[in-house]
Order: sequence, then C-alpha cells, then structure tokens
Amino acid sequence: MNKKTYNVIDLFCGCGGLSLGFEQAGYNVLLGIDMWQDALETYKHNHKNGATLCADLSKISGEEVDREIKFQRVDVIIGGPPCQGFSVAGKRLVDDERNSLYKSFVRMVEYFSPKAFVLENVPNILSIGGGMVRESIIHDFQKLGYNVVTKVLLASDYGVPQNRRRAIFVGLKDGAFDFDIPKVEHKVTTAEALSDLPEGSQSYKSGYECAPQSEFQIIMRRNSKGVMNHEVTIHNAQTKEIIAMVPDGGNYKDLPLHLRETRKVHIAWTRLNSQKPSITIDTGHRHHFHYKWNRVPTVRESARIQSFPDDFEFLCSRTSQYKQVGNAVPPLMAKAIAEQLKIILSCQESK
Ligand SMILES: C[S@@+](CC[C@H](N)C(=O)[O-])C[C@H]1O[C@@H](n2cnc3c(N)ncnc32)[C@H](O)[C@@H]1O
Repeated sequence: MNKKTYNVIDLFCGCGGLSLGFEQAGYNVLLGIDMWQDALETYKHNHKNGATLCADLSKISGEEVDREIKFQRVDVIIGGPPCQGFSVAGKRLVDDERNSLYKSFVRMVEYFSPKAFVLENVPNILSIGGGMVRESIIHDFQKLGYNVVTKVLLASDYGVPQNRRRAIFVGLKDGAFDFDIPKVEHKVTTAEALSDLPEGSQSYKSGYECAPQSEFQIIMRRNSKGVMNHEVTIHNAQTKEIIAMVPDGGNYKDLPLHLRETRKVHIAWTRLNSQKPSITIDTGHRHHFHYKWNRVPTVRESARIQSFPDDFEFLCSRTSQYKQVGNAVPPLMAKAIAEQLKIILSCQESK
C-alpha cells in the first residue's frame, strides 16, 4: 500500500461525507468549501483538520483558495458541483449560466493542476442527450491534460447499507487507467445497519441499549462514546395508524384503496426492507419509514444508512441535519473510491 499522503481539497463539501471517506483512506484533506454555514459547522466539528471556507464557489478564485491553504501542494480535488444547468436542444448542448458551479470545479482543476480529481454527480449526467453532457465534461478536462474515466457506482457494492447510485468522473494527469473498484461480497441490510438502535429517542451520548448485532454495527460504533442524533419524530395518530398497516418492505400498495392516495407521491408510505440495503434516503421528506417502528428513521439511523460512523455528530437544527445527511456521498463509498485512486497514483509514481 502507498504510504505517501496526498493533499486534498473538497469543493461543495457539505457536511463532508466525501471528505470523510478520503480521510479514512489516509488522505490529508486540507480544506472543505461550501456556502452553507450549517453544513460547515458539522464539517468543522468532525474532520481532523477541520479547515473550512464559507464561499460561493462561482465567485471565488483559485488564488483565494490557495491563500486559504497557505499555498500548500494540492494533489487531488474532489467534489460534487450541482449540475442542474446541463441540457440538450436537438444536437446542441445548451450552455446555461447555472453551470457556473460546474465551471468553478474546472477552474480549480486548471489553477491547482492536481495529479487527479474526482467529480461526483447524479447518474443521469452520463446519459443526458445520449451522452453529450458526459462527452462535453470529458472534453473540458482533456483540454487541461487529463485522462478521464466515468463510472456509475452503487453504494451497496462498497459496504453501504443503501442502494444509492452516483456517477463519478475520475481524472488523472498522467497516463491511461481503468477504475474498477473491488466490490464487497456481502451487501449490508437495513436491519444489520439499524437493529441495535431503539424505537424511542435516546438522551444525548447515552450508552447503547444492547450489544452490536452485526459486523457493520461493530464498525459504526468503533470510536463512539454514546448515541447522538437519535431523536424520534412524533407523528400524529392517523399517520401512525396508516404506516402500521404497511409491512416490512411494503409501500402504499399494501394500504386499503381509500388510503392509498392520502399522499400524492408514489414513494409515500414506503417502509424500508429489513432484509435488503435501504432505498436511497432523501433529505427528510418523511415518506420512508423504519422497517419495524411506526416512524421515520432518526438522523442517526439515516446517518447509519449512509455509513457515517456513530462518532460523527450532526449539528444545527434537526431539519438541517436530515438535509446534511441526505445530501452526502456515503463515506464508505467515498473511501472505496479513494483507496482505488491511491493504488493508481502509487502505480504511477513507481514507474
Ligand atoms: C450534494 S451537496 C455536497 C455533499 C458533499 N459532497 C458530501 O459528501 O457531504 C452539494 C453542496 O453544494 C453546496 N453549494 C451549492 N451551491 C454552491 C455555491 N455556489 N458555492 C458553494 N457551495 C455551493 C450546497 O450548499 C451543498 O452543501
């Protein structure tokens, strides 16, 4: 294994799921940049280095970021710029001004000229316009001298108890490369992720009520000094009665006809399936319920589903915490990406 430490900056870092995975893989994350103060509070509180910059990335220059990190070397740039501005009209790519965020990622790669970058995004970025957006992104980085590989990753293939899909663009300055990350043999189920957490709220940092019941729980609890962010949402009596009719892994189709339409979205009244990885968790819309309890998952349970360890504490309001968790890249998936990248960087350097 490569012993060299690579310096990283994380653009659009949120609370730092992507950063955490890179840290777990032994990278040195110098700085996280975002414009959302709540997420940065959480980021600062949980990352070894903890340096953050609250800034609008469409406005800030490479020089300003460089000053912030005291002109240290940047080996890898990571981040997930919101890319809502990409669309295609006929055979033409529409250059929307909302793409300034994507362009700021490109601008930072141009300025710092890192050995590698990882840009993560929604999977359909690869298929819009029959792949035109994908090609255009690759082209932008090729112009800067990078070889680029794209992949769609399924988080449950990397030890995350969730079937979340994300696209990544991995760029490398020198040489062609493949980016096939080894997958885990066993997919962690929702029950393996959550079964040791109680039905009711737990007072802050109080001890666990039972021993860990799975390998995953052992890993999640490793550095924990007690349970945090496990406050349950109190639903009204009608909501509790309705969700009680939905079995483990079921959804609105399990309800009597007159109740099916009580919520107008098809994912409403979904119960997680205890025997499978979870469906993709959202940012707190309250449509997905615990596989066993008649309530939505707590912030801690959502964090477990994202593979945040129990010593990672989410700060600010509960609504904000759900959003921070739901927005994040699952740390264990980020760790798998980071480890694979390290192998490639180390091979390159030994040539
Ligand atoms: C999907 S989230 C990032 C999640 C993060 N990668 C993680 O793993 O936790 C996208 C982030 O982009 C940030 N963002 C959006 N527009 C921005 C801008 N103009 N400048 C800086 N950050 C911005 C949001 O505040 C949000 O935290």
